[in-house]
Amino acid sequence: MVSRIREDVACIFERDPAAHSKWEIYTSYPGFHALLVHRLSHALWMRGLRTFARWVSHVGRFLTGIEIHPGATIGRRVFIDHGMGVVIGETAEIGDDCTLYHGVTLGGTTWNKGKRHPTLMPGVVIGAGAKILGPIVIGEGAKIGSNAVVVKDVPAGATAVGIPAKIIESAHEQAREEHAAKLGFSAYGLSSSDDDPVAQAIRGLTDHTAELEQKVAELSAALDDLRRREDDARVVADRSDPGRLRKVVDK
Ligand SMILES: CC(C)(COP(=O)(O)OP(=O)(O)OC[C@H]1O[C@@H](n2cnc3c(N)ncnc32)[C@H](O)[C@@H]1OP(=O)(O)O)[C@@H](O)C(=O)NCCC(=O)NCCS
Repeated sequence: MVSRIREDVACIFERDPAAHSKWEIYTSYPGFHALLVHRLSHALWMRGLRTFARWVSHVGRFLTGIEIHPGATIGRRVFIDHGMGVVIGETAEIGDDCTLYHGVTLGGTTWNKGKRHPTLMPGVVIGAGAKILGPIVIGEGAKIGSNAVVVKDVPAGATAVGIPAKIIESAHEQAREEHAAKLGFSAYGLSSSDDDPVAQAIRGLTDHTAELEQKVAELSAALDDLRRREDDARVVADRSDPGRLRKVVDK
């Protein structure tokens, strides 16, 4: 318990440049307090003391402005910065090392019982005001832009912004699109999360032709350079001693 509290404080210190001392975190960080209360309410919930657990969670919400259902599963070193207005639903799961800012909702889209809230894999960052809705999975290390509304899975490492949230293209995907455009078609329909084997094959071919094109360009540049040096050597040899031609070309 003590080691987990130390871990919580250390991770806040690491991720919030505004934190000046550990004492400040112990006394003035609602996200830290909310997680402490949640650990108690979650333990009560797991022991079947459901109403008591809800009441403890309600007190936590009253004190911090952060509403975490006692049934929610929260990993280690999770940081809720500022926190006001955060809502975390009953079946939400938050992996280790995630960061949530104020106004984030991990909500459901159905009144049916069962898994209806999102799962955040380790290292996810959710920007202020973002709404993550439904039993979707936000992949490891993904980032969600502030005020985004996410209703579909987000792949690991991706960044999603907007309403509804869309993945921001990586530099590699942008290069692929430029190359595909040169070949006369658009690769935009072929998102990196697409499991269609034909789409994957086209992506592979596009990347392969881009690589080949790059190599041909390098070879062509090298040949041009060689030709230029040969011409220079010929001029030097013609001007002076024709016997030097061999040496200059070798150089
Ligand atoms: C989503 C986020 C992580 C992206 O950061 P990044 O990878 O550095 O991306 P960039 O800032 O280079 O932006 C990339 C593009 O996404 C757009 N974008 C960034 N954040 C956006 C957002 N929240 N909503 C809509 N578009 C956004 C940018 O305008 C840019 O578009 P462009 O390529 O057309 O110019 C970041 O913008 C964000 O929202 N972080 C949350 C921060 C937060 O909530 N802080 C609260 C502190 S109290």
